Order: sequence, then structure tokens, then C-alpha cells
Amino acid sequence: MFNQDIVNNFQNKETPFYYYDLELLKRTLKACADAADKYRFHVHFALKANFNSRVLQTVKDAGLGADCVSGGEVKKAIESGFNAQQVVFAGVGKSDREINYALDQDIFAFNVESIQELEVINELARAKNKIARVAIRINPNVDAHTHHYITTGLDENKFGINSWDLQSVADALKQSTNLSFLGIHFHVGSQILDMNVFKSLCVKVNEMQAWFEERGMPVKVLNVGGGLGVDYHQPDTNPIADFEAYFKIFADFLTVKPHQEVHFELGRALVAQCSSLISRVLYMKHGIKKNFAVLDAGMTELMRPALYQAYHKIENISKLGQPETMAYDVVGPICESSDCFGKDVNLPTTQRGDLIALRTAGAYGEVMASAYNLRPDIKHVYSED
Ligand code: LLP
Repeated sequence: MFNQDIVNNFQNKETPFYYYDLELLKRTLKACADAADKYRFHVHFALKANFNSRVLQTVKDAGLGADCVSGGEVKKAIESGFNAQQVVFAGVGKSDREINYALDQDIFAFNVESIQELEVINELARAKNKIARVAIRINPNVDAHTHHYITTGLDENKFGINSWDLQSVADALKQSTNLSFLGIHFHVGSQILDMNVFKSLCVKVNEMQAWFEERGMPVKVLNVGGGLGVDYHQPDTNPIADFEAYFKIFADFLTVKPHQEVHFELGRALVAQCSSLISRVLYMKHGIKKNFAVLDAGMTELMRPALYQAYHKIENISKLGQPETMAYDVVGPICESSDCFGKDVNLPTTQRGDLIALRTAGAYGEVMASAYNLRPDIKHVYSED
């Protein structure tokens, strides 16, 4: 929630920048931990959602593990002080170099996405005389009913191993001298608000763990991925994600035996709320049909609206408390028509120099920025400074 003091502090800052409220992040992490601890669930943070150093420091201090999808993320997690025994490495295309690096760091587990990858990790681990712990990512064919670009758990998606290939996986695992089978991993998609999706996932996880255990392969870790969505329309709700309801679904529907651990990989729900992209209005253009507010931030700083038609609440924080008088198309400076943050957005009368906040931008915001149009590096302002 922006107040006049915060906005005054922004006045002499160069825009655009990401504003991080680290206190709010701490409260969100605590809400998540309180809900997860009830069931002794383990939560890893999906670095792909945000790898800003201050954010990672705060997440690490809260005791979470790290879910990484590249050698770069594994390195960043280790350098940020995450315990290697709480680092997992997922992704359909791990290079030999990345696998070797992760083996050298003795990370907790590789989430393996194909039979060939299993063979490669086994070979590379053998060359180092190490045992790699692996979890098998299974494609559960559960529809996340979310934007098709962020649906990952259907048969037609590239992620995970399909259930009809499991026998080959079991055979490959038995033949591998340098792999230790840890468990099974799933992830069905992102920005999921319908808890029934997670219920369907639980049913699949139960089926799959039974399949392995029947074949004499104990499943120690059930990793159910991430995907919990947030309410982008209510950026000030606390907490912005329903952690209680989310973990309760798994507590109610997942079969968990005493020797098993349940792992989660949350990204968005943990960091979306704590950041807003702050931008200044460069120009106002009044056309016959439309009024445009042209910002100094564009799709290069926040790509989600252009890429997924995603909604981020837009606020004119130079006019706090003033009534909305007009509808504006709020656009960026980039030479693409898709560089638009919102159409017909009701705002108070807006003018050149006003500060505009694009809310709930902490997840998949800064990390997806690009230098297209030779844009400058992203700047930051932190609540604690
Ligand atoms: N685990 C795996 C294997 C994943 O692929 C993802 C996200 C997560 C965990 C974390 O999911 P979350 O809790 O954040 O939903 N750029 C898109 C989102 C892409 C999500 C990719 N995978 C967006 O801006 O909406």
C-alpha cells in the first residue's frame, strides 16, 4: 500500500525502478511458513520468479530451500548462502557443464525430465566417482486451467516423463550405478487459483508413488512443484495467496507415509506482492478515441502484459486519494504495439511527471526484463534503505 511518505521518497529517484518492500516479503514468507509447518511440509523458493540478491537473502534467512532451473541459478543460490542440501535442479535441458557444476556442489537433487538425461547424469556422476540423487519429474496430465503459456503438466507439454515411459525409467534407474532414486516430482502450471487442480494432482501423485513402491523402489520425497496463484486485482490483500487453503489440500488428499517428505517449489506466491514497478509519465497524448499515458517503463521492464495479456493493477501514486476521472491506455516507449500495460484504465487526471505504480510485479518481473531497444539496466529501491 503506497502512502505519501513512500511517494515523497521516490520523487528524486531516477525512474523506472523496481521498488521492493522487504518487510512485506518477510510477512509473506512467515504466512507461508506458518501454514506449511503445521504439516511439516518443506518449501523451496523457485528462483526463476525472482533472483534479486536482496530478495534471495531475505528468502534464505527465512530458511527456505532453492529450486533452480539452470546452472546460473544453482550458482546464484549457493553464492547467496542457500545450503546445497536444500538446492534442487530442474529443467528439460540441463547441459553437461551445468550438471557437472551441480555435482561438484553436492546439491540435494536433480529433478530429471527424460530417460536420456538420467543416463547422462549417471555417466557424469560416474566420471566424478559420485552418487547423484535424482527425483523423476512425471508429467501428470493434469490441466491447470491457466494461461496456455504457463501450463506445464499436460501430455502435449515438453516437461517431465510421461507415465507410459515409467517402466523404462525404473529399468534405467536399476541399471545406473551412480544414481540414487529419491522420489518423484510434479509441476502442473503457474498462477493456479482453483484448488481442485491441486486435488487432481494429489490423486496422480498417490497413483505414481504406489507404482514405484510396488516395484520395490521406495519414494522418499514427494515434490509437488509450485503454481499457487495470487490475486492481482487486490494487490494489498494480506497474505496475497491463500497458503492455508493450499497446504490443507495436500494435507487432506496426499498419502504421506512416515518415511516421506513433502516438498513444494513456490515462486510467484512468495514474491509477487513485495514489488511494484515504478515509472514516470513521459507524455500525455489525447486522440479522438483514446487518451494515452506514455510511461518511461515498457515491456522491457515488465513483460507479462505483452507476453501473457497479464493484468497488473496500475495506480497513479502522485494522485493518491484523488477520484478517477478518465480512462487511459497506459503504454511504454518500446517500438511494439504489444508494449501496453493496460487499456481503458481509470485513473485520476494524469499528467507528465506523475509516478505510476504497476503493482504485484515481484514475480517474473525483473527477471524477465530485456535490453531490447538498448534499454538501460533495471534500477532498484528498497523499503529498508
Ligand atoms: N517448479 C517448476 C518446475 C516450475 O516450472 C515453476 C514455474 C515453479 C516451480 C514455480 O511456479 P510458481 O509457484 O511461480 O507458479 N513467467 C510466467 C510463469 C512461468 C512459470 C514457470 N515455471 C509468468 O510470468 O506468469
